[in-house]
Parts: sequence; C-alpha cells; structure tokens
Amino acid sequence: MAIFTFESLNSTNLHLKQNFDKYKNFDVIIADHQTNGYGRFKRNWVDLGTGNIFMSMCLKFESFNKNMLSVAQFSALALAKTFETFGVNPIIKWPNDILIDSKKIAGILAESVIADLQFKGIVLGIGVNLNSNIKDLSLINQNATSLNLIIGKQIDKIEFINKFLEIFKQNYPLFLSGGFKSFKNDYTAYLNCISKVINISDSNNSFTGIVKGINDYGQLMLNIDGKIKEISSGDISFI
Ligand code: BTN
Repeated sequence: MAIFTFESLNSTNLHLKQNFDKYKNFDVIIADHQTNGYGRFKRNWVDLGTGNIFMSMCLKFESFNKNMLSVAQFSALALAKTFETFGVNPIIKWPNDILIDSKKIAGILAESVIADLQFKGIVLGIGVNLNSNIKDLSLINQNATSLNLIIGKQIDKIEFINKFLEIFKQNYPLFLSGGFKSFKNDYTAYLNCISKVINISDSNNSFTGIVKGINDYGQLMLNIDGKIKEISSGDISFI
C-alpha cells in the first residue's frame, strides 16, 4: 500500500476510477485541491483549501462480493471512530455522512469499478473538513463544520489520515469475511435516526415512516404503516 499525493486533480475518485489498473489494493490518492470534486447524487463537493482531506482509496476484488454493498457504512464507522480519537463526538447520518453538533463534517462516496463487464473493485472517496476557514463554510449549501473550528487548533492532515487507515485496516478482514453484520451494532450506536419519524428520498422515490433499524447489509429498515421496507440509498430528513 502507498499514498500518492497530487497538488491538484479534478477529483480523486475520478482519477482513481480512470487509472484503477495502475494502483494496488489499499493505495490511497490524496489531492491538495480538487477542481471538480463530487459527492453522492453527483452533488458538488466544494474545495475549502489544502488543509482539508480529499482522498480516495483503492479496494480491489476478484469477484463481486455482496458485502461490498455496505462498504460505505463500514467506512463511516471507521471515520467516526477516527474523529473520536480527536476527542469529539461524531454522529453518523445514514448511510455515511459524519455530523458533529448536527453539522456535516465529512462525507463518503463509494463507487464501483466495472470493466469488460467484470466487477474490479471499489473507489472509496472521503472528504473531511479538517482545517477550514469559518467564512468559507458558507460556500457549502448545507450546515457544515470543520474539525479545527471545534477543537480550536490546526489538525495534522497526515495524522488524521493515518489514524483512519489504521482503524479501517484493523477491521477490514472481519468485514470481508463476516460482512457488515459484525459491525451493525457498533454502527447503529452512532446513528441519529433510530425510532424517529423520517422522510427518505432520492430522485426517484420518497418514503415516510419510522426507522426500525439497520439490516445486515447496512440498509435502512423503515416501518411504513406497519410494513418494513428495506432502503439502500437516499437522503434522510426528520419530520
Ligand atoms: C458526500 O457527502 O456526498 C460524499 C462526498 C465525497 C467527497 C470526496 S472528496 C474526495 C473524493 N473525490 C471526490 O470527487 N469525491 C470524494
């Protein structure tokens, strides 16, 4: 495994997807700047400067493994635990946003890489507001915060990334063999939506119900008028 640092890329995810064969399992791409970073549902991921984290990790597989469907949830748990080592209390907004004080501080975008009709692996993209200027946070079109502003000092970017990689890799073998099931209870303890009435929507669907829990594949189990619906993606809003 190696870390490759670039001064500027359009997007670390896009770069890794386009050059997937050149990288090895667990290789990490970091950019000081992204000119065209993106998040879930192709939303823009704003570059708030070089002190922040724009990184992507290369995860390779021989064949499709159903456990991969919850790699973003597994990674959110590793990221939440990384924040905790800095003395703060993160919340996971299902499926994989990290919030502190109800404001977004990090996001994850896991993208599958398929070539010649074959599943090659996953590009795991992570954006963290680590050292942002308070004025710049208003450029983000949702309530956002940054770790330096919470702790009151600059954060060492490499220290944060190494901590994340350490926690991720410690737990990854069990994730691969046992699936998300082995992490479900730990993950659920960080969620802010259990037993709440929520609306969940994406560009195609919108559902309202009470969150019953998370299943063994990281899907949200929503009780809609007494029937349980298992949902794979979407944005939650509280009612
Ligand atoms: C989200 O919250 O919607 C996910 C945001 C993911 C942003 C990261 S920044 C590094 C990597 N490169 C990208 O273009 N996106 C991800």
